[in-house]
Amino acid sequence: METTLVSQSLDRVEADAVVVLLFEEETAPSELKNSSAWIDELRASGEFTGKTGELAVQHLPSGFKAKRLAVAGGGKRDKSDASTLRRAVGTAVRALKQKGVKRLAWWLSAGADPEAAVEGAILGNFEPDRYKTSTDAKSLEAFILVAPDSARAAFERGKILGDAQNFTRELVNEPANVMTPTLLAERAKAMAAEVGLEFEVLDEPRMRQLGMGSLLGVSQGSAEPPALIIVRYKPAQPPKTKDHLGLVGKGVTFDTGGVSIKPADGMEKMKYDMAGGAAMLGTMRAIAQLKPAIPVTALIPAVENMVGSKAQRPGDIVTSLSGKTIEVLNTDAEGRLILVDALTYAQRLGCTHLVDAATLTGAIVVALGNVNIGVFTNNDALLARVLAAAKAEGEKSWHMPLDDDYKDLLKSAFADLANIGGRWGGAISAAYFLKEFAGDTPWVHLDIAGTAWLDESKPFLAKGPSGVAVRTFTRLALDW
Ligand code: BES
Ligand code: ZN
Ligand code: ZN
Repeated sequence: METTLVSQSLDRVEADAVVVLLFEEETAPSELKNSSAWIDELRASGEFTGKTGELAVQHLPSGFKAKRLAVAGGGKRDKSDASTLRRAVGTAVRALKQKGVKRLAWWLSAGADPEAAVEGAILGNFEPDRYKTSTDAKSLEAFILVAPDSARAAFERGKILGDAQNFTRELVNEPANVMTPTLLAERAKAMAAEVGLEFEVLDEPRMRQLGMGSLLGVSQGSAEPPALIIVRYKPAQPPKTKDHLGLVGKGVTFDTGGVSIKPADGMEKMKYDMAGGAAMLGTMRAIAQLKPAIPVTALIPAVENMVGSKAQRPGDIVTSLSGKTIEVLNTDAEGRLILVDALTYAQRLGCTHLVDAATLTGAIVVALGNVNIGVFTNNDALLARVLAAAKAEGEKSWHMPLDDDYKDLLKSAFADLANIGGRWGGAISAAYFLKEFAGDTPWVHLDIAGTAWLDESKPFLAKGPSGVAVRTFTRLALDW
């Protein structure tokens, strides 16, 4: 999709549709004076009241060059923010592209955020239909933001962020027969070359040499070799602080559960178990273009969790890179096993602050549903930064407890730690396990199991991968 900004009067814009946001109980802007009778009638009939999600379309509007004029509901003005706008644009894009609109122009009202508008369009235009040889999902060819020239910088940021999120969604949407750890590394390498980032991958022999026994125990059951993907961003100017942000993302390209196998029902969804890793790659893509002031290194441990004669067994004891031993009581709790070796390695690479994202537990979905990301930490200052970034980006996040009282859950009779903590508080014991390997390094963990995948489409977003956390992490780095 071509995305452009034009500073033109609305009636001059050539498009299949021009769309204007209207709030509840507000009169239409002067740009729509020729259509005021139509809008009055819409309101009087109750067909359009300005509530969020509403959309009304008029063909051949008088005085306009565009073929259609549409009004989109913005809800109550005092409740509206960047999220409202992002969703409203996405909703208009998804509804109008299905009606055959190819060129959609959005009129940005004064004070509205150009970045969110462009993002909404790019996100709404995404369809997970790469493998359909025929599809009725239509797509826009052009999105035109009608806004003053002063909106250009924010407009460009929105383009970068929208594309980065869709890059993540493409990766997550790939089926696991395509998206192996090797392919994930290749895609990361191509992306790094395209935007000018350093790339490195540790292969299995190197990981063995280093002693990443926890990660290798998970991958040993798969014919697909593991990969520890490392992507580095360095600012052009010497940074003012010694801070070095490490982004660690779970990259399980398929999670069968291993010998502690998952039920068949819904197992196909486990191709999204690399969504944390994909979010970090999308973040790095945006970071390379938006250039924050601090160095950022992404580490993505990528493995496939399979069954077979080589697979690890419940009761196996592995030695992690940190030296701590782990009794694997359940092979389905594999995410934490690969993450801890990556967290230890990130510290060896000099990362001073660690943030990880992982589709780590079903328990976080029980706790928070599909709305909030579960956030865990050992450091309140870093937590505040992450939560502020998430709030600004409209990615709902909820701080979960991680007190030392939970430590007992991970006791093992035969090793330093067990990899599961029992039935209750499952998202917390998983996070606690990670915490044991973060040591004194400030660390925040995002459990995105409930938010990285949409089981049903939304008016503004297709079913499937959501691209969650890319905006939060990018802002975290930019606002450092
Ligand atoms: N990838 C899953 C977590 C998951 C489950 C994500 C359901 C989305 C939906 C993870 O590897 C896993 O299997 N976790 C187990 C841990 C348990 C064995 C302690 C879980 O949550 O059931
Ligand atoms: Zn699992
Ligand atoms: Zn998993």
